Amino acid sequence: MTSSVTVRVPAKVNLQLSVGPLRDDGYHDLVNVFHAVSLFDEVTAAESDRLSIRVVGDPAGQVPLDESNLAIRAARALAARAGRSYGAELVIRKSIPVAGGMAGGSADAAAALVACDRLWGLGLSREDLSDIAADLGSDVPFALLGGTAVGTGRGEMLTPLPVSGTFHWVFALADAGLSTPAVYRECDRLREAAGERAGWPALSEPLAHALRDGDPKSLGRALVNDLQPASIMLRRSLARTLDEGREQGALGALVSGSGPTCAFLAESAEHALDLSVSLRRVCHQVVSAYGPVPGAVVV
Ligand code: C5P
Repeated sequence: MTSSVTVRVPAKVNLQLSVGPLRDDGYHDLVNVFHAVSLFDEVTAAESDRLSIRVVGDPAGQVPLDESNLAIRAARALAARAGRSYGAELVIRKSIPVAGGMAGGSADAAAALVACDRLWGLGLSREDLSDIAADLGSDVPFALLGGTAVGTGRGEMLTPLPVSGTFHWVFALADAGLSTPAVYRECDRLREAAGERAGWPALSEPLAHALRDGDPKSLGRALVNDLQPASIMLRRSLARTLDEGREQGALGALVSGSGPTCAFLAESAEHALDLSVSLRRVCHQVVSAYGPVPGAVVV
């Protein structure tokens, strides 16, 4: 019998985040192009009588260790689905920025589902795991799938997109997170104040072509995030960070998801290295990564 299982899971950046109208359930209909990048958390599930959680690599202690932790909730939801009370000791090794708009919490939940499914010998299909994932959060199903995919509905209904080659990214991390619900609320407030009505979002054709052709210059021009003005209103310094990246020759610059991480597209791995050296002078913390990469996998 397996005594422990480790799963590696990637962060995401949103290449297109088009936010439609607010729904009755408090969510927004989206067109959300997810792209998994090579910043990974690892979740190990080890045999135990009860469910517990520990986090390594989160020096500021930002990850909650109570029932609000999405990985614990994932394990509980999986046990409920199997109709038994299972235990596991979950250890999360964090590299994905916390509350950074890169879906780190969702990634850990996806990894916990895959790890506990294997540890407990349940053998659920990816489809079943994806159903449980969607109930946990809008970004969790993508962390299972990885690659590049367009999410519709509230982001949980996924269709993989064809991509050629690899794209190189630099991420500027902030020293404090932003709350996703607060950013969506600010987006609604800004739209209302401007007298704007949110249209029905659609996948950007130029973006889909740039991905299919593996063309970073066209991709840089096509990047779009409707939440960006709201994130900037809540964290004014993001505008300066984005300008800095553009001045240093990034092909595209945008806030990742609800932020505050800023993503910069480079032309090549070498260019990403140059860009990260320049950005390091003005940003709290800078990391490079490439995408697309696979979703949650047992290692
Ligand atoms: O699904 P998740 O729990 O990750 O969403 C966090 C919050 O983000 C929601 O409570 C909601 O305020 C906002 N959200 C939204 N529309 C979406 C996804 C998230 O308004 N499609």
